[in-house]
Amino acid sequence: MDIVSPLSQQEDTIINTKIAAALNEQLNMEYYSAYSYLAMSAYFLTQNLNGFAHWMRVQAQEELTHGMKIYDFLDDREADIRFSTIETPKQSWDSPLEVFEDSLAQEQKVSQSIYNIADLALSERDHATHTFLQWFIAEQVEEEAVVRELIDTIKLVGIEGNGLFLLDRDLAQRGLNGTDTTEGQ
Ligand code: FEO
Repeated sequence: MDIVSPLSQQEDTIINTKIAAALNEQLNMEYYSAYSYLAMSAYFLTQNLNGFAHWMRVQAQEELTHGMKIYDFLDDREADIRFSTIETPKQSWDSPLEVFEDSLAQEQKVSQSIYNIADLALSERDHATHTFLQWFIAEQVEEEAVVRELIDTIKLVGIEGNGLFLLDRDLAQRGLNGTDTTEGQ
């Protein structure tokens, strides 16, 4: 097995190079997601949908925390942390529905990538990484569900008028990590 860490004798501080590379790629993917959600947020600002823009901005912030979780895990496992180019995200859409459909597709891509690393961790018998990824697997279930629900709601209310206005007001309440800023008021 290829070892990245100089402390190769210490089983609890080593990480396989293939897994380290996959986690570094995932780090890039989380930052791409943040960038992409920020582009969606900027698009909604141009549409005067400030609640949608806020929701996407909070989502971008969450993606940064996902990236930092991977960064810290790589550090804990004494692996090299590598940075690569972040792809330019899409920046214009025809409707709010199209934005959320793109968001769902991106989340499904992220889920698949996490599953692939979990498979790799199992085949490489890296139980620490496999356990670490369980949080991401649960988070992806949640993120996909939330976006699917928003797609259904947008389809229900239509792409303009009162329904969209009320949904925009609703989305403006989103706090960090799934909290609602109206909670406890
Ligand atoms: Fe970090 Fe939305 O996946």
